[in-house]
Amino acid sequence: MWSRRRLLAAAGAGAAAVAAGCSAEPGSRPVGVDSVAVREAEARRRAAGAPVREVRLRAEPATVDLGGVVVDTWTYGGRLPGTEVRLRRGEVLSARFDNALAAPSTVHWHGVALRADMDGVPGLTQPPVQPGSGFGYEFTVPDAGTYWLHPHVGVQLDRGLYAPLIVEDPADPGYDAEAVVILDDWLDGVDGRDPDAELARLRAAGMHDMSAEPGGGHGGHGGHAGAQTAPLGEHGGDVEYRHYLCNGRLPADPVTFTAAPRQRMRVRLINAAADTAFRVAVAGHRMTVTHSDGFPVFPVSTESLLIGMGERYDVTVDLRAGVFALAAAAEAKAGRAMAVIRTGPGEALDAGVRVRELDTAPLTAGRLQAADAARLAPRAPEVVHEVRLGADATGYVWTINDRAPLDGMVGHDAHAMFEVFAGQRVRLRFVNATTMFHPMHLHGHTGALVTGSGAGPRKDTVLVGAGETVEFDFDATNPGQWMLHCHNAYHGEAGMMSVLSYQA
Ligand code: C2O
Ligand code: CU
Repeated sequence: MWSRRRLLAAAGAGAAAVAAGCSAEPGSRPVGVDSVAVREAEARRRAAGAPVREVRLRAEPATVDLGGVVVDTWTYGGRLPGTEVRLRRGEVLSARFDNALAAPSTVHWHGVALRADMDGVPGLTQPPVQPGSGFGYEFTVPDAGTYWLHPHVGVQLDRGLYAPLIVEDPADPGYDAEAVVILDDWLDGVDGRDPDAELARLRAAGMHDMSAEPGGGHGGHGGHAGAQTAPLGEHGGDVEYRHYLCNGRLPADPVTFTAAPRQRMRVRLINAAADTAFRVAVAGHRMTVTHSDGFPVFPVSTESLLIGMGERYDVTVDLRAGVFALAAAAEAKAGRAMAVIRTGPGEALDAGVRVRELDTAPLTAGRLQAADAARLAPRAPEVVHEVRLGADATGYVWTINDRAPLDGMVGHDAHAMFEVFAGQRVRLRFVNATTMFHPMHLHGHTGALVTGSGAGPRKDTVLVGAGETVEFDFDATNPGQWMLHCHNAYHGEAGMMSVLSYQA
């Protein structure tokens, strides 16, 4: 995958290669990840005497029981999901990563506004960590919220390599109970499949009529038309999964969260899937959405919500007495993940138990407003970048502004499409010219969805539905070189990746 020569070029020249030849501002140069600007930004975030939390992460092959289905896969520390990392806002995370896989890997801290040289993107922010070697990550975690971690190499995140990263806010109101729920679509080690073979299969098959009329594509089992019931369109994904997991478990043998009746439970939802959005509901309950991608929103009550790959929502649930399914239906696909919330005696739930709330129109981010404390200051954007999401019908190639870097080969100048300067308010206008949805993720920043209210929810991962245009604003306050890509793991590897490049 990486020739040594190419690796050295990428690691050494790194950022310089990124913007070569395509600078919009004559005379400007890319801000390297190993630079004074990056170190100064980190120094501003780090309080004197900030506690340092040490963790160890070891990527290794393991045999895992999903609950009746046993698979050989890749994990952190032999567990699925990996052990949760939890610390407080303002603390320093010091993570020793050891790679015991047979392939290079890295760790990316999804959603955290961290120092650019710790972002875990091979070729852009560090060399890939080779088998048998390691890397020390250390950075301040400036904002509370629900985050997660995963590799940023190939389609490794479609194996078992993911874990929750929870940053507590000392100012949070107490909750009676808390559940961290991490959702996944699963194929690794089932019927001889694995994500790399799946990507090869997609490439051999080529693109399926992505310019066809909505509903005319393949793979959809949505059943309903219309924005209300199918907000993302009817094309649920590119890959067929037999299994959907909640905290590494199949619905037949689910994880159980226990609490008492009348308690208020905080549920932190994370979608770690590669190719699946989920519609989430708690049987017999309404959910109150309190946070989007880690940041507080004005609470909104709903029966179901939609969560795309890479997104997080925190909700609260006022629990009744009994045994209830927390169900996550694969959106526009067949199948679901499930956990159980138990507040008293009662029969175990059947894996197929009906959850009426899943039939309701799910809440999406557009219906949320940032809480006052989390609101992006009102300001007109100084730069607007159009980010056109497309497909190249000549193969399995997904594009951004008609370009598609191959094999996640970041550091190549084909990636550097979006230049910003520190201090700017930047608007990204995502224009989806395809019949599939794309969860677009920006590293190192949490911006705001542009909504009619003028106080859109804070997000780092934005769902752009089939044929939709969605705008997203952020402040360029974290210098470096940052990935901007589709969080469908297969789309990213097939070209839907780019770099937001700070210039000076
Ligand atoms: Cu969660 Cu670039 O990724
Ligand atoms: Cu995509």
